[in-house]
Amino acid sequence: MWSGRFREPLDTQFEAWQRSFPFDWRLLPQEIAASSAHARVIAAAGILTPAEADRMIAGLEAVGKLALSESEFHNPNSSSAASIAQAEDIHHFVELELTREIGDLALKLHTGRSRNEQIATDMRLYVRDSIDIILAGLGKWALALIGLAEQAGDAVMPSYTHLQRAEPVLVAHWLLTYVSMIERDISRLQDCRKRMNLCPLGSGAIAGATLALDRTIAAQSLAFDGPTSNSMDATSDRDFALEFTQVLSILGLHISRFAEELTLFSTAEFGFLDLPEAFSTGSSAMPQKKNPDLTELIRGKSGRLIGAATSLSVLIKGLPLAYNKDLQEGQEPVFDASSTVQGVLAVLPAFTSSLRFRFDRMASAASSGYLNAMAAATYLSNKGVPFRKAHEQIGNAVRFGLESGRELEALTLEELKQFGDQFAEDFYTAITVEATLDCHDVVGGTARRRVHAALADGRSRILAEIDQQTVKSAKLE
Ligand code: ARG
Repeated sequence: MWSGRFREPLDTQFEAWQRSFPFDWRLLPQEIAASSAHARVIAAAGILTPAEADRMIAGLEAVGKLALSESEFHNPNSSSAASIAQAEDIHHFVELELTREIGDLALKLHTGRSRNEQIATDMRLYVRDSIDIILAGLGKWALALIGLAEQAGDAVMPSYTHLQRAEPVLVAHWLLTYVSMIERDISRLQDCRKRMNLCPLGSGAIAGATLALDRTIAAQSLAFDGPTSNSMDATSDRDFALEFTQVLSILGLHISRFAEELTLFSTAEFGFLDLPEAFSTGSSAMPQKKNPDLTELIRGKSGRLIGAATSLSVLIKGLPLAYNKDLQEGQEPVFDASSTVQGVLAVLPAFTSSLRFRFDRMASAASSGYLNAMAAATYLSNKGVPFRKAHEQIGNAVRFGLESGRELEALTLEELKQFGDQFAEDFYTAITVEATLDCHDVVGGTARRRVHAALADGRSRILAEIDQQTVKSAKLE
């Protein structure tokens, strides 16, 4: 591919070691698409006749049908074994295979282009494809959460601050928290997609193509919004990969919080849910165990995603312009982050839909431990008691209750009146679980009518954001 100026052959160990083909074979579909677009560009520039361009594109399509995979790579009987053994990278592989397909005409494909712009283009296409698949997977997970929240109806649970019981909330309200996180992840992915959707083809090795190519042809045929604006930037920029992995690491953090809460809630100590057997494992030593492997693994995967984003940052820091071979090291973190998230999203929606909560346990946890104290203070402040005073009076009532082992609703009116004279009979209806929920009657609050509305709004926003066709056809790795 480039041996003309060399007198000596490469050291064989070095030659094998510097190849990227052992991992960039994943870029075959993107490389075929980008090469076909380039064939159209050079045909328009008169380098290929229309008939030659057709033959070349048909040849590329044939090469694109090869089933590259980890196992094919090690298969000595593969029909492409000779090219696999020789190829330095995916670009080299496609040229070798194209030559087998269409003969010497293949040698014209590299006119006016460089591998530096090719890899930049392939990686953008790969990230763009990954974003589309991940968006569909996120949509599925959000709908699974909304479905679960709808099933929960008006079931209540305690909410926690400092991991201490705080106030009762609807189970649906808690689940919708994760839908809000997903919506931000969706918007970050869409944003990243928009920003990266420019085509590097025509940037050459560093200074721009050496032929007067019409770059809009390639941009259009690859569904980019236009060509990139600076050839040095286009061949050295990996912001799209950085952003993509950073967005995925944030998404991983969200998923890990969900995983951690479920792990915790499934313990005997909480007892808020029975782990679905289809997604749990037993212990080879302790016969009674049912372990939350799915949520634990997900928690672990988020570390891996942060690792990918960190690798890319460290790789790019201080890298001089423009292309440097270091950039080859930036591929694997992107591949790994993309398939890690796809793997998680392939199991998470079904796991989520199969969750069955123990609403009785949740409700009893929500109705003891003075979780209605804030509603009680609000009752007094609605009667004109300044909130600081109301807080203190209810605090005193709680202390009194603690001493005699009773909740606020179990204290008599007479007992309550020693802490303030505004307590009246209607106090008891103001501190039921329902009243405690419904006093949070603000947008985003846990009042029942607000949560019902939030569920409907959440569902319609997700349906509007995620194309349902893609959700159905998305093939998560
Ligand atoms: N395999 C290379 C990479 O992934 C392709 C670009 C090679 N360019 C070069 N000038 N050696 O970065």
